[in-house]
Amino acid sequence: MIKNDLFLRALKGETVNRPPVWMMRQAGRYLPEFIAIREKYDFFTRCRTPELASEITVQPIRRYGMDAAILFSDILVIPQAMNIEVQMKPNFGPYLPNPVRTQKDVDNVIVPDVKVELDYVYQAIKATKELLNDDIPLIGFAGSPWTILCYCVQGQGSKTFDKAKEFCFTNPIAAHQLLQKITDTTIAYLKEKVKAGVNAVQVFDSWGGMLSPVDYQEFSWQYINQIIEALKDDAPVIAFGKGCWFALGDMAKSNASALGVDWTCSPRNARYLTGGNITLQGNFDPSRLLSPPSEIKKMVHQMINDFGKDKYIVNLGHGILPNIPLDHAKAFIDAVKEYSPSYLPK
Ligand code: CP3
Repeated sequence: MIKNDLFLRALKGETVNRPPVWMMRQAGRYLPEFIAIREKYDFFTRCRTPELASEITVQPIRRYGMDAAILFSDILVIPQAMNIEVQMKPNFGPYLPNPVRTQKDVDNVIVPDVKVELDYVYQAIKATKELLNDDIPLIGFAGSPWTILCYCVQGQGSKTFDKAKEFCFTNPIAAHQLLQKITDTTIAYLKEKVKAGVNAVQVFDSWGGMLSPVDYQEFSWQYINQIIEALKDDAPVIAFGKGCWFALGDMAKSNASALGVDWTCSPRNARYLTGGNITLQGNFDPSRLLSPPSEIKKMVHQMINDFGKDKYIVNLGHGILPNIPLDHAKAFIDAVKEYSPSYLPK
């Protein structure tokens, strides 16, 4: 059905001539056509208007021709649907004026009917599928329950998420109730996204690396694994944990179709920790897109050789930065398309 199915084949572990490529946060602030839309509409208007969300989703595809699109939306639409107010403040980021800090606050968090509350997301998916015309697959996503808890409790971004950790470690019963409510909502939401047409889903655990390996199991991984188990028969699931190299061994034993890796873990070590059999995705340092295009291309070819061209999806190790020149992003994508197995060392 999908004309370019490289991405889906890599998720199945099939042999390919070159790996597929996309970039985390590829629809965003480094693109002038995105900035033009941002100047006219606020953040949640862009998320809630299918014509805008679908247009923003395909902007990077038109410009660079990635092998997969990721729906323009945000992980914080989930707490919003759970009755927690979320604002997106320009030049500040997410702001939640009434953070969840007590058992009573957790009791007030609802598990919504996601079919109704997040209908605008499924409409955006349908509009995007029309624009994509089955040329490439569409990825849907959600935040991990732990990463969502971080924002719900902290109330804003943070370098340490100290209040989120304090809540988990002083009130673990309430914390686990909140994590379970987020998990239940996320599972229902991702299932609806698949029904609306996404071809794969990615769980972003952007703040998993804040936790110790033992706490990661308790407060993050067990909930991500519930999501994987619930979704595995609906669509391939990619689990991306920023800074979570220490958990790759356990993650590789799950039913995830692929695991995301960041740049603090070498390709060789990631293969070693995961036993060499599961598809990996990553792990170019987003700041390395500031290097000259010729160097970017060399580093990308080296990265493909190090991961191996099969069971591999080329990506950054985290989202693209706003200050990346357009021709540098192009060099990253083109390098993958120009890749040939003859680049392998003899
Ligand atoms: O690839 C894409 O661009 C798809 C859309 C996408 C957005 N957010 C749009 C967005 C995706 C996949 C996300 C995920 C997301 N959102 C994560 C996980 C990935 C990661 O980067 O760790 C997280 C932690 C968030 C929460 C969030 N949303 C933050 C911290 C911010 C502010 C900082 C920032 O990145 O700008 C946002 C706002 C946001 N989400 C923007 C975009 C394009 C920028 C604000 C705007 O456009 O007005």
